[in-house]
Amino acid sequence: MTLQSTMTGPEPLLIERSRAGRRAAIMPTLDVPTVDAAEAIPASLRRLDDVALPEVAERDLVTHYTRLSRRNYGIDLGFYPLGSCTMKYNPRLNEEVAAMPGFRRLHPLQPESTIQGMLELLVELETWLCEITGMRAVTFQPAAGAHGELTGLLLMRAYHEARGELGTRRKVIIPDTAHGTNPASVRLAGFDVLEVPSDARGLVDIDALEALCDETVVGLMITNPNTLGLFDDSIERIAAAVHKVGGLLYYDGANLNAIVGHCRPGDMGFDIVHLNVHKTFSTPHGGGGPGAGPIGVSERLVPFLPGPHPSFDDSTGTYRWEEPGPHSIGRVHGWWGNAGILVRAAVYLQTLGAEGLRHVSELAVLNANYLLARLKERFDVAYETQPMHEFVLTARRQKARGARAMDVAKRLIDHGVHPMTVYFPLVVDEAMMIEPTETESKETLDAFVASLFAIDDEIDTDLDVLLQAPHTAPISRPDEATAARNPIVRW
Ligand SMILES: Cc1ncc(COP(=O)(O)O)c(C=O)c1O
Repeated sequence: MTLQSTMTGPEPLLIERSRAGRRAAIMPTLDVPTVDAAEAIPASLRRLDDVALPEVAERDLVTHYTRLSRRNYGIDLGFYPLGSCTMKYNPRLNEEVAAMPGFRRLHPLQPESTIQGMLELLVELETWLCEITGMRAVTFQPAAGAHGELTGLLLMRAYHEARGELGTRRKVIIPDTAHGTNPASVRLAGFDVLEVPSDARGLVDIDALEALCDETVVGLMITNPNTLGLFDDSIERIAAAVHKVGGLLYYDGANLNAIVGHCRPGDMGFDIVHLNVHKTFSTPHGGGGPGAGPIGVSERLVPFLPGPHPSFDDSTGTYRWEEPGPHSIGRVHGWWGNAGILVRAAVYLQTLGAEGLRHVSELAVLNANYLLARLKERFDVAYETQPMHEFVLTARRQKARGARAMDVAKRLIDHGVHPMTVYFPLVVDEAMMIEPTETESKETLDAFVASLFAIDDEIDTDLDVLLQAPHTAPISRPDEATAARNPIVRW
């Protein structure tokens, strides 16, 4: 047996380190009567025979997880300019408040009278989110943006069904720059995707959109600014074209960080808005869940919202869970949603206030535009339109010299930076999508530029080193497609 390297080489699974009889804890002597498991647990639920649990000492356990954590990259470690994903720093105050016993120890089965504080927080949070988005009501049930998308599409379905138009309306229009979750959600909701192309500025081709709009359209899903980081100034014309044929407008809130406090989806004509609270309101991302992706809706969609809904009862002066009405699409989440995440979002909003929020989006846009101005010296920009909080470069010139966007991204890992998003949006050849967010200092942005310039130099001086990067990570170039398609999630 060899000693375990802390950073390199394969990390054995806990089950591989297991030795019979080793324990990580000493259990107290039993002071209650023992029960025969065979009697207490029905045979169908007893699986102890074929479950081999790892038997390890506390020391093994701690070193195993510490080693794994050191092989990971997180927002608390350094720069994380993952475009479209908005990897936002999570202020510690959010964590402190969410960890207060009054929030942390709540149980979903507690009676309403004992969770008045939590309900009050949710009712207030709903008011703030309505104010920020220009919507009439919010449901907190969806666990992520993509879950919000599906919920929003189910609301569209219920709305058209109530009007007796579901039989004819089958198509949801989506721009060719859209995030992959948009078409996936459309298909999951049982509709067909109708793609609208972008124009030379990287914005929706409005003539093409108007040509697609007819009475078969369920609605349009769009994010503004779009995934190229460009604000679509035709949004009112887009909304009018969709509304004119009876369709609904869905706002993918992934890019709200660029405009929050300055303009509102509701005022642009949207009927449904999802909020990726991890992107805009600094909650942990949670890998798409357990997070929160609340959605807000306009007046006409309120009857279809999932429930129960937190509300204030004027007659009793107390907060309560209000049961959904007869047109509700029903629950989209067990219990009440991921409340701990919502506490963090509420703390963030309360800390910043309206002025602070406006400032955040201004800084996010400023940081992105500063980076773009500097990087343009070496990298081509995909579209000349002025971006908002993120922008897309193309590694076309670098590819002609021998290195692709993926090589540049992999080499960034050796510079201690999380790579930007690459090969998305699909409409850009060799896309490198960069989103710095508002919390990064000028020094960090300048260091990032220096890294990208050094990598660009390396194409001509040390191409082999670049093509085999990363050299400092525990693993170098995994087969990402196979890992995503055939994950081995249990030993
Ligand atoms: C434009 C866009 N839409 C939707 C999503 C899905 O959001 P979530 O990761 O919260 O499911 C993302 C995620 O990064 C996104 O960038």
